Amino acid sequence: MVAINYKNATVNLAEDVYEPAEDSFLLANAALSTATNGMKVLEIGTGSGFVSAVIQANKNIELIATEINPFAAKCARSNGVKVIKTDMFAGIKEKNEFDLIIFNPPYLPTSEDEKVPGWLNYAFDGGITGRDPIRPFLLNVRNYLKTEGTILLLVSSLTSIDDVKNEMSEFYFDSHIIARDKCSFEELVVIKGNLRKV
Ligand SMILES: C[S@@+](CC[C@H](N)C(=O)[O-])C[C@H]1O[C@@H](n2cnc3c(N)ncnc32)[C@H](O)[C@@H]1O
Repeated sequence: MVAINYKNATVNLAEDVYEPAEDSFLLANAALSTATNGMKVLEIGTGSGFVSAVIQANKNIELIATEINPFAAKCARSNGVKVIKTDMFAGIKEKNEFDLIIFNPPYLPTSEDEKVPGWLNYAFDGGITGRDPIRPFLLNVRNYLKTEGTILLLVSSLTSIDDVKNEMSEFYFDSHIIARDKCSFEELVVIKGNLRKV
């Protein structure tokens, strides 16, 4: 079995599970800079558990994650991450309790004939615009976030970063980019969001 060692965490990978890539590393580093000891953290779509495992290995935090792909949920559990196998936030009982909520969504613009067979499609398929999973995330996330809490969202230039920021604004989040990485065919960014004060 392939394993990744990164910043005090060891993460074993498995078949039909997203293999951590530049996006995962960028989000893990941004989460490490944002998380402080004592925080309650929620990761949506944890995949192998890589990002959560890196945060847990370096911060004294309480963390729970969700994942729709049963193979990924099992893999993340084996990597020491507490996971609920569910769709997005379904099954998370703690309302308005999280200090930090993070999501590296499937963000690739994907047409019908570009879909990947099986569960792995959930790791890549962002719908025609690449933003399909972002809207339900933004619609629901404030129900789980503390008023002063923070969200971190990983997106790509392929997803249209400005459109994502506009959607965040529509859902009452002030946003700014806290990390960037230029890869071969795209630029990845981590957008930090905080609920606008009314
Ligand atoms: C791009 S991968 C990122 C995986 C991991 N967080 C990382 O950074 O390496 C997106 C993950 O979100 C999961 N996912 C997609 N839609 C989901 C949903 N509606 N609810 C929960 N998980 C979802 C996928 O199965 C996949 O594991």
